[in-house]
Amino acid sequence: MAAALSSTEAYSLLALSLACFGILSNTFSRADGEPLVASIAFSGLAFASCYALIRWLGGAFMRRGFKGRDLCKLRQTEIPETMGAVCAVVYLFTLIMFIPWPFYKDIVVATSGGGNRDVIKELEEVETGRLLHRFPHNKLASYLSAILSLQCIALLGIGDDLFDIRWRHKLFIPAIAAIPMLIVYFVDFGVTQMVVPIPLRPYLGELFDLGWLYYVYMAMLSMFSTNSINILAGINGIEVAQSLVIAVLIVVNDVLYLSPFTPYPHPATDSHLFSLYLLLPFIGVSLALLKHNWYPARVFVGDTYCYFAGMVFAVDGILGHFSKTLILLLLPQGFNFVYSAPQLFHLVPCPRHRLPHFNARTGLLECSRVEFKRPLARPIAESVKLLHRLRLLDVESDENGQVVSCSNFTIINLWLVWFGPMREDRLALGLLAFQSAFGVLGLLIRHRMALLIFTADNW
Ligand code: UD1
Ligand code: MG
Repeated sequence: MAAALSSTEAYSLLALSLACFGILSNTFSRADGEPLVASIAFSGLAFASCYALIRWLGGAFMRRGFKGRDLCKLRQTEIPETMGAVCAVVYLFTLIMFIPWPFYKDIVVATSGGGNRDVIKELEEVETGRLLHRFPHNKLASYLSAILSLQCIALLGIGDDLFDIRWRHKLFIPAIAAIPMLIVYFVDFGVTQMVVPIPLRPYLGELFDLGWLYYVYMAMLSMFSTNSINILAGINGIEVAQSLVIAVLIVVNDVLYLSPFTPYPHPATDSHLFSLYLLLPFIGVSLALLKHNWYPARVFVGDTYCYFAGMVFAVDGILGHFSKTLILLLLPQGFNFVYSAPQLFHLVPCPRHRLPHFNARTGLLECSRVEFKRPLARPIAESVKLLHRLRLLDVESDENGQVVSCSNFTIINLWLVWFGPMREDRLALGLLAFQSAFGVLGLLIRHRMALLIFTADNW
């Protein structure tokens, strides 16, 4: 693996970095600092640093044992793993360096120092003639709690990549990492009510207070978004690319709440700006990783990346107050999760790896199978056969009608059952097209149909 950057790469990254520095220094001379423009420049810098670091650190990671074999290749050479850790570190530094831009006035100008909030700015004074405005002071607490939770997940993710934590334990890792965010949410915001859809209002009223269950909901959302990305994995590029599709769709959703699309001031604008500040640098580091992880992969992302990406979405959706929209965008992951359930809960045996099988003769991927050494219990065997008839599984039976093997329960394998063997990158592209189509449909439903079950779209 070539560790050095080619000269074209080096010069391009340098040019990009200089341009971003230029934009950043320009924002200093503006009265309002243009936080959104600064965030875009920071994301460019994050891309450039992440790109170079992945290349430079690959060898060092391998020497420390962070490496894996590419199981879907003829020659299963070892390549660096856990490159998500590089992304997470670059991302966290970017978020921390960015703090002065959106919060400068709130920290320094609008207070007399020492945390006093005594200099109250009149609304007109703050809003005059500006496209976007700054955060109120208490958003800083949310922002810092997001950073804390993401730091926790990076730490725990690296722990998982180091020690290969068991599935039944690692399921809960994200719930632990969510604690800093939940505590700050409790102290600072504390809203635990949910808007009730019209058909249920006669029973529950207009707003329903979930109380402490709301915290359980938020912890479960973190567990779901992280683990569901980790199990929709195993072919080159799929972990990063699916995260990128989701991130871009959330950005599209955020932009709908900003200036040209939604007249300012709008109550949801702040939350969606907040979401953009978290997502743009994430897109920066993920693009740098995708460049190295796409077929044929030169590095693996590790569980660190899957957890980190899922946590970025959870934090973003919860603190940006659009967790239901987030769930809509995670529907393909949700489907894969439900589909995987028989193996995750060991109703059907679950091998260590469920990624597709590489056929060395054709060079194509085929669905991987789980062989049943012992006959399956009757109800399970019948259910598996039913899935086969519904074309949701590929089942092989012997002459006595006993089930001997079936394809593994992931949508990656299901895709191969439906469309036949194909090359690794075509498989990844197919699944990404599926993810994008579902996401766009989800957003359309969100903005066009929400009024059918809610009285007001918060748009
Ligand atoms: C999850 C999946 C497992 C899948 C694995 C692949 C469940 C319950 N677990 O496990 O079925 O096989 O992810 O990531 O669904 N690898 C490749 N090519 C790739 C990506 C990964 O060959 O494009 C292999 C490499 O050997 C790499 C290993 O997968 O070292 C990483 O697996 P890991 O992330 O540790 O697996 P899990 O997340 O535990
Ligand atoms: Mg994994």
